[in-house]
Amino acid sequence: MSEKVIRQQYDQVANLYDRRWSTYIAKTLSFLKTWAHISPEATVLDIGCGTGEFERLLLTENPQQMITGVDISEEMLLVAKQKCRAYPNVSFLTASASALPFANNSFDVIVSASTFHYFDDPETSLKEMRRVLKPDGKVVILDWCKDYLLCRICDFVLKFVDPAYKQCYTQREFHSLFTSAQFDIKCATKFRFGIIWGMMIATATPQTY
Ligand SMILES: C[S@@+](CC[C@H](N)C(=O)[O-])C[C@H]1O[C@@H](n2cnc3c(N)ncnc32)[C@H](O)[C@@H]1O
Repeated sequence: MSEKVIRQQYDQVANLYDRRWSTYIAKTLSFLKTWAHISPEATVLDIGCGTGEFERLLLTENPQQMITGVDISEEMLLVAKQKCRAYPNVSFLTASASALPFANNSFDVIVSASTFHYFDDPETSLKEMRRVLKPDGKVVILDWCKDYLLCRICDFVLKFVDPAYKQCYTQREFHSLFTSAQFDIKCATKFRFGIIWGMMIATATPQTY
């Protein structure tokens, strides 16, 4: 149910999305890119890739980077495909985080930005990430952080007014979801930008024991 609502919502805003959220997108995705340290040889999966802004950013530095973006909104993906049309090494697919259409051990790096709070079943999504990630790969997830007062208020309000919204997490809850899906947190932080946005980011690797 909620994926259908999310899809409808993002299909409607796809053509405005980059302009409406330009400052937020620029700040979050440049932070993610710097934090993630993605090597030019890595195969990258971006979950909830939206309009392909993270792909555009990575490609400015590494035009040969192999990147796959997935999203449940066809209209967001159309914008992404148009933006990256000159790059045969980049592909976009319609898929949900909870059922990734890839073989086991397919990617070196999985990223996801500002999307985790939409997941109906974050544990299943993290298990899917673990399945398609190579054993020596890493997952980097950036999302809102409920440890910040304004995020807590947004979380409370959005649950009433936005049927697409699921929930955001405290950093402790976020890390324990990773642990349940058999990831180890390698590095993590939380930070604020602007007055509203309290964010957290974590890099995690598959547990080996
Ligand atoms: C706030 S946008 C973020 C887009 C992009 N990552 C960015 O930072 O600009 C959230 C995106 O996640 C997608 N999304 C939400 N739930 C999803 C799911 N379960 N699987 C895949 N994509 C999802 C939405 O369609 C939307 O494009």
